[in-house]
Amino acid sequence: MRILVTGAAGFIGSNFVHLTLATRPEAQVTVLDALTYAGALASLDGVLDRIDFVQGDVADAALVDRLVAATDLVVHFAAESHNDNSLTDPRPFVQTNLVGTYNLIEAARHHRVRYHHISTDEVYGDLELDDPKRFTEDTPYNPSSPYSATKAGSDLLVRAWVRSFDLQATISNCSNNYGPRQHVEKFIPRQITNVIDGVRPKLYGEGLNVRDWIHVDDHNTAVWTIIDTGRIGETYLIGADGEVNNTDVIRLILELMGRSPEGYDHVTDRAGHDLRYAIDAGRLRTELGWTPHYRNFREGLQATIDWYVANEAWWRPMKDATEAKYAATQSVVAR
Ligand code: NAD
Ligand code: DAU
Repeated sequence: MRILVTGAAGFIGSNFVHLTLATRPEAQVTVLDALTYAGALASLDGVLDRIDFVQGDVADAALVDRLVAATDLVVHFAAESHNDNSLTDPRPFVQTNLVGTYNLIEAARHHRVRYHHISTDEVYGDLELDDPKRFTEDTPYNPSSPYSATKAGSDLLVRAWVRSFDLQATISNCSNNYGPRQHVEKFIPRQITNVIDGVRPKLYGEGLNVRDWIHVDDHNTAVWTIIDTGRIGETYLIGADGEVNNTDVIRLILELMGRSPEGYDHVTDRAGHDLRYAIDAGRLRTELGWTPHYRNFREGLQATIDWYVANEAWWRPMKDATEAKYAATQSVVAR
């Protein structure tokens, strides 16, 4: 099978390519990635000689059309993915997440190519801390940030293309991923690399916000399950019952790295900060029989810490620029 994977120099897409080549050695993989600040060719070390890598923009309609014409399946990961960046400069989010998706689904419909759309639980907005409800496929869309609004818009484009043009598509909306090769702008890698550097971890606001953590490999096995057995036109939520609040995550990182669990700073809160995400993955589990492999967050986090300790050459080039960007908008708040 020929597979076009967009955004695979990034976190989840690169892990998807590693998993795919390890489990489906016959797959012919082409990667389309613009190598933005978030992309690193080093994330594809070990598989670069087994794939075709095309550096290019999903917003380039002619390039996208040519690549989609030559594949059997598109898995679309490419996106501007960081909420904080979307608050300081939303424009690339509109261009990549909306225009890029539009180009891919237009090409997929013209060439009758199977399409899988990678999306996020953030399209549903947030939940109260004490709300027993979790997101389901029927939860109304209610995005909070420019990032999540563009992801919601891209999902709606895909849904419309399924209904109006019979696009052969599935959509997945996943919760927060952790694991190797995640950019150090994101919560968990930022704190791990801060601790390695002797810098105190940074907690936004009160730190009560809850995220529903899933290991990146579990996200990707779920994506393959949906591609293999999901119903065309359907949306599937992906999650692994991993709700933890941010304070507890920071305290656990400090403890696992041999530091005092109190050794962190509170910093300026994110504008519009979503309080809680929680996924009910019942449809994926009961209809398609998927189950997560990583059920112990403490062990998965320890393995992730070990990866960052062992792979400083991968993250060091991005660390200073990331912290400089944060320093311009965040400061320590006394409590
Ligand atoms: P990432 O920021 O680590 O990687 C994004 C990749 O896309 C990078 O390699 C970047 O170079 C590439 N890219 C950006 N703009 C591009 C463009 N215009 N053309 C081509 N390539 C471009 O992101 P990630 O965390 O791996 O997220 C991947 C996908 O998964 C996104 O669609 C995101 O919305 C979704 N998602 C992420 C999470 C999470 O926890 N990280 C959870 C659910 C869904
Ligand atoms: O839910 C899925 C989403 O998860 C994806 O769609 C996004 O692409 C991905 O970035 C992630 O979004 P979040 O905004 O939840 O992730 P982030 O890593 O930026 O932050 C996680 C939580 O930690 C959030 O409540 C903000 C907080 N935080 C973040 C950083 C970077 C801190 O307290 N301190 C920090 O330094």
